[in-house]
Amino acid sequence: MKTMVTANQKGGVGKTSTVVHVAFDFLERGLRVAVIDLDTQANASFTLQGHQSGYLASQMFDLDVDRLRQWFTGRVDGPAIHLIASDARLADMEKRGVSEASASFKANVAALADCGFDVVLVDTAPSLGVGMAAALFAADYVLSPIELEAYSMQGIKRMVTTIANVRKVNTKLKFLGMMPSKVDARNPRHLRHLDELHKAYPQLMIPASVGLRSSIADALASGVPVWKIKKTAARKAAKEVRDVADYVFTKMEIA
Ligand SMILES: Nc1ncnc2c1ncn2[C@@H]1O[C@H](COP(=O)(O)OP(=O)(O)O)[C@@H](O)[C@H]1O
Ligand SMILES: [Mg+2]
Repeated sequence: MKTMVTANQKGGVGKTSTVVHVAFDFLERGLRVAVIDLDTQANASFTLQGHQSGYLASQMFDLDVDRLRQWFTGRVDGPAIHLIASDARLADMEKRGVSEASASFKANVAALADCGFDVVLVDTAPSLGVGMAAALFAADYVLSPIELEAYSMQGIKRMVTTIANVRKVNTKLKFLGMMPSKVDARNPRHLRHLDELHKAYPQLMIPASVGLRSSIADALASGVPVWKIKKTAARKAAKEVRDVADYVFTKMEIA
């Protein structure tokens, strides 16, 4: 089993859209996918509400790993998305110590492997909090969707440093890189920022990006991937999102 987390302390950059679309793509590849929504805004839980597992994200921080095993044993028997939904109790977790919360989260993620999952995708909240730290300490891969606006650009250095620091402790963590999202190819500011990033982080920019496309927001609102949206304008978005999923799938070496 492989685990990937999307992380960026900035909100609105495409973390949830990426997790949800990768989950739908992996489902179509025949995988058994768990999605853990660690954001109290519960956006991934909204889009994936038709895929409830009945297990809650805050329970991933409990010490009782046997309860998770009992819950999922016998329920993970074919290609499916199992949503471990965001719940109100998640907010309490931010008050706990990072090392204690991380240890519990890691043990519960490891137990998901015993229950038959092929892949775990973790969506995080836009903050450098306990939840993001726990997810990074447990993960094999991290992907950072980014936006090409000034406020987002400001935080990128800090995000890269945070990931580099976690990698000193979680040595198996691989940084898949930064994925430009909501890119407006007609906006000179976006193109300038993209150019700056390629110069500053040549190794960290993934060879795929997603444009600013309203069909993606339509899809997230309707609980379906963008390739199920029947509009001509959705085709380009679908191709871009599929390319991102392809890249992630290949890099994660799941097959
Ligand atoms: N490529 C895109 N083009 C247009 N809108 C998008 C795109 N990706 C996401 N959105 C919209 O932008 C908002 C933020 O995206 P989201 O994936 O929720 O970001 P995050 O999880 O980083 O906060 C959402 O309302 C979503 O519908
Ligand atoms: Mg989100």
